[in-house]
Amino acid sequence: MASPSRRHSRRHSRSQPGRWREDMGRARQCQRPSPAAPEDGPHTLVVIGRRFPLYSRLPGGSRDAEGSSSLAHQLGNQDDGPACAPMQRALLSLTIPLEMLQLVKSRMMEAMLKGLSRETHAQSCVQMLPTFICSTPDGTEKGNLLVVELCQKHVRTLWVKLLGDGNHSPEIMYKIFDVPESVMQGKGEELFGFIAQCVRQFLSGIDSPQTPIPLGFVFPFSCKQKKLDEAELISWSKGFCCSDVEGKDVVQLLQKAINSQEIYNVDVVALLNDTVGTIMTCSSGDKPCEIALVVDTGTNSCFMAEAQLVEMVEETSGRMCVNTEWGSFGEDGSLNDILTPYDQRVDQESCDPGLKRFEKLVGGLYLGEIVRHVLISLTAEKALFVGSNVTSLRTKDVIRTEQVLDIIDGEDGMETARKILEALGLSPSERDCCRVQQVCRAVVSRAAALCAAGLAAILTHMRQARDLDQLSVNVGVEGQLYQRQPSRFGEILQSVTGLLAPECTTTLLHAVDGTGRGAAMVTAVALRLAAQRREVDQLLAPLRLSYDDLKHVQALMRQEMELGLGRDTHANACVRMLPTYVCATPDGKEQGEFLALDLGGTNFRVLVVHVGKEGIRMASEIYVIPTTAMTGTGEALFDHIMECIIDFQQKQDLMAQVLPLGFTFSFPCQQLGLDKAVLLNWTKGFNASGCVGEDVVRLLREAAQRKEHLGLKVVAVINDTVGTMMSCGYDDPNCEIGLIVGTGSNACYMEEMRNVGTVEGEQGRMCINMEWGAFGDNGCLGSIFTTFDELVDEKTINAGKQRFEKLISGMYLGEIVRHILVAMVEKQLLFHGKPCSSLMERNIFQTKFLSTIEVDGLALRQVQGILQDLGIQASFEDSVLVRKVCHTVSLRAAQLCAAGLAAVVEKMRENRGLDKMAVTVGVDGTLYKLHPCFSQNVQETLRELAPNCNVTFLQSEDGSGKGAALVAAVACRGAEL
Ligand code: G6P
Ligand code: BGC
Repeated sequence: MASPSRRHSRRHSRSQPGRWREDMGRARQCQRPSPAAPEDGPHTLVVIGRRFPLYSRLPGGSRDAEGSSSLAHQLGNQDDGPACAPMQRALLSLTIPLEMLQLVKSRMMEAMLKGLSRETHAQSCVQMLPTFICSTPDGTEKGNLLVVELCQKHVRTLWVKLLGDGNHSPEIMYKIFDVPESVMQGKGEELFGFIAQCVRQFLSGIDSPQTPIPLGFVFPFSCKQKKLDEAELISWSKGFCCSDVEGKDVVQLLQKAINSQEIYNVDVVALLNDTVGTIMTCSSGDKPCEIALVVDTGTNSCFMAEAQLVEMVEETSGRMCVNTEWGSFGEDGSLNDILTPYDQRVDQESCDPGLKRFEKLVGGLYLGEIVRHVLISLTAEKALFVGSNVTSLRTKDVIRTEQVLDIIDGEDGMETARKILEALGLSPSERDCCRVQQVCRAVVSRAAALCAAGLAAILTHMRQARDLDQLSVNVGVEGQLYQRQPSRFGEILQSVTGLLAPECTTTLLHAVDGTGRGAAMVTAVALRLAAQRREVDQLLAPLRLSYDDLKHVQALMRQEMELGLGRDTHANACVRMLPTYVCATPDGKEQGEFLALDLGGTNFRVLVVHVGKEGIRMASEIYVIPTTAMTGTGEALFDHIMECIIDFQQKQDLMAQVLPLGFTFSFPCQQLGLDKAVLLNWTKGFNASGCVGEDVVRLLREAAQRKEHLGLKVVAVINDTVGTMMSCGYDDPNCEIGLIVGTGSNACYMEEMRNVGTVEGEQGRMCINMEWGAFGDNGCLGSIFTTFDELVDEKTINAGKQRFEKLISGMYLGEIVRHILVAMVEKQLLFHGKPCSSLMERNIFQTKFLSTIEVDGLALRQVQGILQDLGIQASFEDSVLVRKVCHTVSLRAAQLCAAGLAAVVEKMRENRGLDKMAVTVGVDGTLYKLHPCFSQNVQETLRELAPNCNVTFLQSEDGSGKGAALVAAVACRGAEL
């Protein structure tokens, strides 16, 4: 295996001018601008001192077409030397009119969208590869990092010290190792072995720590990245074609090679494309760079795309850097109408004919070749080097792109052209040198213009994706074509981009240090993200329940149900399994007109319900229960309820009628009969005095008396779970379970009377109001409760009570999320650790925010909007984390709800001695109904936990008011019997 010859320089050392390779860094700084006269904008083609406008602005008629024909005419007129026609034809064929560049831009945009879409990605020649980099550096990245760049002819190893002070000037040491040609075309193992040796030699030369050293690998070839540290090589290019690498994970190959060098403390944590290194190098805290172009031996670009448009990744929020691999643009023939015969010859002679068509028009590996083929054809047409021996021009790569760039440097350029041509054994005339310079200019200008068309495509895509009228971005540029400042390439790139994407403003930033600094940033970001991910996962781990955890909860629930049903154990049971005296679900024969009240959910509703053969018609009114009434005296609360009833009856012109009333009272009550229920305790923030232990129907009747309202005839009082089961049972007789997941949470189901130890009788069934909200009040769920749940519980007016409800229902999920976010801020995982006073306020993070934030495909901008309304400035990363917390909390709630239901359906199945059971659950509650994935998570988890039960969920349309009316109807029919 070839051993690396090394050279090194410390970022801060200075050395004498002139020596190209050694002082590449410095060379960059001292290059002088090209010779074209300052007033010569990029759109000027200079032929023997005459100026010809190119790319003139399209609007205002087809001047260009005219222009282009006038160009030929002007060219003809100006270079009136011998055989000037072939010269004009050559230059014209290398000149792309603006309208054609517009076409190239829109074709590039089409190919980009194709590459982004999951359906068409595989067919697109612009591959749009996700890089898993979702943010640009924020200047806080810290650490000593090792970076390896695999460049065209060399490997560069860098030691980068990031100080986290905005990182404008990190300490960088680097060494360059030339890569022997044989290694570029040998076995993959050899290439990575060579790189690993470079790493070993580099580390042996610096006092590197023994602690783990994170390595960032800049690998400028198209890779299918699965995550920051996992990337499969799709295809080689730019003269590299090592065997046994395509389709393999390059990170693994390098790690293996490094380990085989017995360097055990180097860990490859990130692989990135050189464009990504450039975008990162040019980004700093206050000046993020969102697009990067590499115009070097090859060409490529990347940009910060809206993650939700990158369909190949799950990430639906925020932004993700996408490596376009635009070098392959045109492989589908979409550039055929601009390819010249010279381009075709360059392609045929390349090691990958038909591939990388765009790269072969723009990349430094090919510009020299294009010039060579133009010169060959002009020579053949006696327009150049008449009388010279031109065999040297037949040698591939005899004209290098650096030389082309030197030639187009104006005055010096002509002299340079002479020297280069003479070195090739030609004896060029003054005119020859001038024509060669024109050809070089035309080839480089075309490359720049095509690059501009690509850049304009990206800019317009970003502006449209972000729904902006104007877009202004920093564009990082790296590579020999842009390296000379100012460069003709740069001027044309900037101005043609301005013509093709006038609604976008670009600031081109030159990646002075190549991609090294950027790679170090990415590695640091990778480390920070990995560390953050580990910490976040650690923080959220207690909220993540395994299948076994849920089976355990299911078994505990079953156990508690048995205790609640047991005559001797009921009194101390936390799941009180309250008999409701509802023994049947509706049979459709119910008839009559009823008043119904629905208290205990988000809203208090009064309804009038008409039940008839033709179905159910109802009218209702929603009233607010002020907090003062919820926490004042019971008398005031029931007086307020009476005022609402009277208001409703007046509005519905019912004052003259005494309608049977069904009262949905959604709190734990000991039912002593259909119309008699003693409140056991308040929940959901209610705490009106003088009610607990009282018959709530009596409290209501007394309030009617106080109002001297004789029109009240309460015939049934039910729980909202029962009301929901009944109202859904009216449409689906299989509905034998009622579930509420709203402000609070609870369930009821039809239990066999023989199992209800607290009520006499063995026959038939009775609906049991489980009051499962209190599950765990005896501490049996201790292993599930997290510190966040404890924080939520201790601040409630019923601390220690309703523990299961406080893990599941809408009144509490927002609070759990808030406490987790506060903890993350304290751990510097969120909002840069900056305390946010608003987050310290109870109930400021409402559960409805979870429902909004977790909407699939919601742009993170909206998540940021919600946080902004809370006075919190959140970055994209922050918003991704907030979404993760919301999802973790709501998923746990849904899973716990499913574990409770699994206990119920399994008990019913066993009750009925069935192997398989089908049953319907009537469900209501804002959380279940409005949260984007809560219901689905409940159903999926239930299928896993109770596979022998086929459970249908029927959302109650009209709430439990209808159910209350149906129970009242049954009660009235019973009374008639
Ligand atoms: C519906 C039912 C109420 C129930 C409520 C629960 O509105 O009609 O009886 O109490 O849902 O959900 P919520 O989200 O309002 O607490
Ligand atoms: C109450 C239940 C009610 C549930 C849903 C709980 O707080 O204890 O009676 O069914 O909320 O509203």
